[in-house]
Amino acid sequence: MANIEKKRVNFKVFRFNSETDYLPHYIEYEMEVAPGEVMLDILNRIKWEHDGSFSYRRSCRHGICGSCAIKVNGKATLACKDRVMDLVEIFGDELVVEPQNKARAIKDMVIDKKDFWSKYNSVNPFLTTEIDEHPEKENIVMPEEAEKLEEADYCIQCGNCYYSCPAVQVNEDYLGPAALALTWRFNADKRDEAKRERLETVNEIGPGIWDCVKCFECAEACPKELNPIGKITKLHLQTFEEDMAKDNVAVRHAVGFKHSIDKHGILDEGELVKYSEGLIGVLKHVPEAIAMYKKGKIVLPWNMPKSKNLDEIKKLVKSVSTAKFKGK
Ligand code: SF4
Ligand code: SF4
Ligand code: FES
Repeated sequence: MANIEKKRVNFKVFRFNSETDYLPHYIEYEMEVAPGEVMLDILNRIKWEHDGSFSYRRSCRHGICGSCAIKVNGKATLACKDRVMDLVEIFGDELVVEPQNKARAIKDMVIDKKDFWSKYNSVNPFLTTEIDEHPEKENIVMPEEAEKLEEADYCIQCGNCYYSCPAVQVNEDYLGPAALALTWRFNADKRDEAKRERLETVNEIGPGIWDCVKCFECAEACPKELNPIGKITKLHLQTFEEDMAKDNVAVRHAVGFKHSIDKHGILDEGELVKYSEGLIGVLKHVPEAIAMYKKGKIVLPWNMPKSKNLDEIKKLVKSVSTAKFKGK
C-alpha cells in the first residue's frame, strides 16, 4: 500500500450556544489529517472523537444539499467538497473554523438563515406560466435556450455567496447574489411569464441589482462556480432591454460608463461623476477631485486623452450594447 503522507493541523473552532452563552469562544483541536480528507471529515471527527455536543449541518456529503457551508480562515467553504490540504496550502497549518455568519450563530456552525431564505423567496423563485391541463405535447426547452440560464439552476442554496457579500453586510435590504442569480434563472427561461414582475422587484434601489458593488466576492465564494455577479450584470441589461431602467444615480453611472468608453476609449472619472450625479454632485466631489488631480489620477477635462484604438473600441461597444435608456 502506498505511503500516505499525513499532516498535523491545528483547528481553532468557533463554539457558541445561543441558549447558554453570552459570548462565543474558540476550542483548539490538533489532528493528523490525511491528504484526501475534506473539512466535513474534520467536523465529524470533532463530534465523534472529541465532543458529541458539537453542532453543524450536513446531509448529502456530495456537494448537492448545500447544508454544510462554513468559513475557514474567513474563506467561504463547502465542508464536504473542500479538501483540508488545499486550505493548508493557502493558510498554513492553523485553520480557524467558523460559521458563515458569526452574528447569526445558533449553535457552533449552525446559523439562522432566515434572512437568506426570505430574500430567496421574495423573487418568485418558480416558473410562472399558464398550464394547459391536458397538453398534447411536451413543452421542450432546446439546449441553446437552456444555455441562457448559464447553469443558474445548479445553485444548491448553500448561501456562501450571500454570507460573503459586502453589500449585504452594509445594507440589510439588499437581496444578495443568490436571490439575484435565481431571478436570472427564471427570467432567462423562455417558458416563464413573470419576467417583468421580477424585474420590478430587483430594479429597486436598496434591495436590487443596482446596489451590487461588483466586488466579485460571490464569484469567488460559489462552490458551483455559478458566477452570480455575471447574472446580476445580465439583469442590468434585461432592465434596459425591457425599457424598465429608471433614471437614478446607479443607472446613470452605468450609462455614463458606457458613454465615457465610447467617447474616449478609456474611463473619464470626472465625466462619470457629472453623468451620474449631475453638476451639484460634481461640486460635492471637488475636494476629492483636487486630491486626485494632485496625485495624477485624473486630468483636466480639456486634457482628457483618447485611446489610440478608439475606432475599434467604438465598434466593440456598439456590437455588445443593448442599452435603451431614454434620452441617452
Ligand atoms: S459582486 Fe455584488 S453581489 Fe457579488 S459579492 Fe460583490 S456586491 Fe455582493
Ligand atoms: S449561487 Fe453558488 S454560492 Fe450562492 S447559494 Fe447558489 S450555489 Fe451557493
Ligand atoms: S453535505 Fe450536502 S453539500 Fe455538503
